[in-house]
Amino acid sequence: MQEKILILDFGSQYTQLIARRIRELNVYCEIYPFNHYPAPDENVKGVILSGSPYSVRDAMAPYPDLQQVKGRIPLLGVCYGAQHLTHNFGGEVLPSNTREYGRARLVEIDNEDPLFTGVTPGTQVWMSHGDTIARIPDGYRITGSTGDVKVAAFRIDGEKTWGIQFHPEVYHTTEGARMLGNFITNICGCRGDWTPESFVEMTVRALREQLGDDRVVLGLSGGVDSSVAALLLDRAIGDRLTSIFVDNGLLRKNEYEAVLEAYRKMGLNVRGVDASAEFVDELRGVSDPEKKRKIIGRVFIEVFDREAHKVQNVKWLAQGTIYPDVIESVSVNGPSATIKSHHNVGGLPDKMHLRVVEPLRLLFKDEVRRVGRALEMPGEILHRHPFPGPGLAIRILGEVTPDKLSTLRDADEIFINGLKSNGLYDKVWQAAVILLPVQSVGVMGDERTYENTVVLRAVTSTDGMTADWSHLPHEFLADVSNQIINRVKGVNRVVYDISSKPPSTIEWE
Ligand code: XMP
Repeated sequence: MQEKILILDFGSQYTQLIARRIRELNVYCEIYPFNHYPAPDENVKGVILSGSPYSVRDAMAPYPDLQQVKGRIPLLGVCYGAQHLTHNFGGEVLPSNTREYGRARLVEIDNEDPLFTGVTPGTQVWMSHGDTIARIPDGYRITGSTGDVKVAAFRIDGEKTWGIQFHPEVYHTTEGARMLGNFITNICGCRGDWTPESFVEMTVRALREQLGDDRVVLGLSGGVDSSVAALLLDRAIGDRLTSIFVDNGLLRKNEYEAVLEAYRKMGLNVRGVDASAEFVDELRGVSDPEKKRKIIGRVFIEVFDREAHKVQNVKWLAQGTIYPDVIESVSVNGPSATIKSHHNVGGLPDKMHLRVVEPLRLLFKDEVRRVGRALEMPGEILHRHPFPGPGLAIRILGEVTPDKLSTLRDADEIFINGLKSNGLYDKVWQAAVILLPVQSVGVMGDERTYENTVVLRAVTSTDGMTADWSHLPHEFLADVSNQIINRVKGVNRVVYDISSKPPSTIEWE
């Protein structure tokens, strides 16, 4: 059976990072709110308590019920988790005189302790807390200290419980991965056999069981998530999956044909639907970005629903939802306010009265790519930059017209092809051209022009939540600018966006 680790979330911004680190060790783990987690069965090899923005001394401090865990299976408290294991079990946690924040050195380590096997004395760790453990309960033993923090790490004698006041999951804790690895391997005894291949095998089996002989529809977007979801379902149920790829008229140049062709080559049972006229029609006269998004979302649902009804006996709607969306909606802090209207087709399941199947709901984005690789997905889909559901409509500031779409497509093609032919495409997380509703004066030959400006945008990022502008070579930018101005009618000025996110977003609308 699939061994796993449970992570109980107390609301720390780093909880997801703990999960990622553990999965990097090829061990499967799941995150649950501290007050709502399943009773551990024999597959649960250990439990980790995350950090928290709360103080254990607050009246409202999150208080987990650990009766089924503590003293029964391996337990590791991180930061707040460690303070909880102290404060509520006979020790004392007090406000620290100096807020303990940032880098520190673990000058004293008990290397006999299985959590610290092979960890270098003096190794850098990263602290972030306003409280500190002042006194440990009887039966606890200090296993690590920094210059300022006596109880940086402890364990409880006679049970498999550990606590550390620093964050092993963050990059600044140099040997954090080793410590988590020690916990997972030495203490929990995990085998570490969770790989993309094993995920595929397990998921295909589970999908067959779940879906039986039913038929399923899925909306393909050209992006990685929906494509990987489709491949997994294709493995499980073959042509009982019908994938629908809608041309909303807002795609890049030749994208619809190229992507449809790629899907067919992958053996998917896919239907292409050219609904471009419908979308462009509905967008006429609309300049407000949120209104544009809403219209595109609504028309997509209408088109998809119409097409899906042409498939007989459909019982399920498959979606490419991934883990960050799932955690966000169940997290301790509740659905975060930052959830964008990006979830373009959120209304689809309600409208269609279908049951929803989400084969990727437990994966992080980079894991989706690894699974895609295991499924032998072609590189042109696997390494494709993210592309927003509303497509070029949010890259044309103001009203969307067929002329503007055509101008933007031509400029975009030059930029993207340039990135590819100069070996820069994979170094950039996302690239786009934006068409501004701004004209400026130029000269071409002997003539004065009064034409449009386009913006080149390229960013590096890991998840799109934060991003930096890509430092593309000047010669490359010069070449792209020349090509656009010479070849794209109606554009006489090209600028490069050098803003990072935050505060600037990746898209301009
Ligand atoms: P921002 O512009 O918010 O973009 O920095 C972050 C990431 O989200 C994409 N994005 C969208 N994706 N529907 C989508 O499916 C949308 O309405 C939308 N708006 C932005 C953006 O391309 C980037 O990858």
